[in-house]
Amino acid sequence: MRSDAQQRDVALRIEGLTVRYGSLTALDDVSWTVDDGEIVGVIGPNGAGKSSSFAAISNSVPHEGDCYLYGTSTAGMPTQALARKGLRRTFQQNSFFGELTVLENAMAAFQVQGSTRLLPSIVTPWREAKTRAETRRVAAALLRDFGVGPRYHELFPDDLPYGLQRVLSIVLAYGAGAKVLLIDEPAAGVGGDDMRNLADLLGELRSRGLAIVLIEHHMDLVMEIVDRLVVIDRGQQIAYGLPADVQRQPAVLEAYLGRTA
Ligand SMILES: Nc1ncnc2c1ncn2[C@@H]1O[C@H](COP(=O)(O)OP(=O)(O)OP(=O)(O)O)[C@@H](O)[C@H]1O
Ligand SMILES: [Mg+2]
Repeated sequence: MRSDAQQRDVALRIEGLTVRYGSLTALDDVSWTVDDGEIVGVIGPNGAGKSSSFAAISNSVPHEGDCYLYGTSTAGMPTQALARKGLRRTFQQNSFFGELTVLENAMAAFQVQGSTRLLPSIVTPWREAKTRAETRRVAAALLRDFGVGPRYHELFPDDLPYGLQRVLSIVLAYGAGAKVLLIDEPAAGVGGDDMRNLADLLGELRSRGLAIVLIEHHMDLVMEIVDRLVVIDRGQQIAYGLPADVQRQPAVLEAYLGRTA
């Protein structure tokens, strides 16, 4: 529609997203936006449909409704094609290349991003070596910048402390060229200092201009960091707005506290 033409450049716009698994409607008519340099939180009780919304946005489950990435409809685009355009998702469970070291994982992420340069490097092999050394240097610097120090680089991801694994999965998505990052429960199973590190990491990525959508149960982290909040309960979007406003809404309080029936 012409009337919302000015919204066309928002990083990610979700309209009427609906997900059904057989007769179960897991997500029902959900709509929100996130722009570059923003963090939008998605909260709701277990089974509310939060992860299903990420699955739908990344076109990995059938759904109804529309998603626009920088104004372009993502309908029919395979998950990998969306990832190449900068729409990336991290999962509730970590997913690394388990047989590669931490540093090699980071290098692999950069190679995904730089794969369009592969052809010239085949033509001139000496350039490949140069590029590989360069990739190694940049990957190591990226890890260091985000608190994954050199002593971890030669380990396998599974051997990292758990909190650092959660950080690593986000850093790899960023290294692979994420512009819009869908992050599913980064703080699940972490506490204390690791929570602080995650908050700092997300804040840093926001300041670098990423659009971030964050599913998270830890309300302290959510309330501290998000710009807007979407609340889903049993598939329904029951609130959307500024965190302080959303937190006071009766439907939200009921979803979290008042389920007496
Ligand atoms: N692949 C699937 N097939 C069938 N039902 C599914 C599938 N994935 C999720 N569901 C169901 O859809 C509903 C929403 O699940 P979803 O994983 O999206 O919730 P969630 O909000 O992410 O929950 P949690 O906080 O526990 O991670 C649940 O009832 C779940 O059992
Ligand atoms: Mg989930």
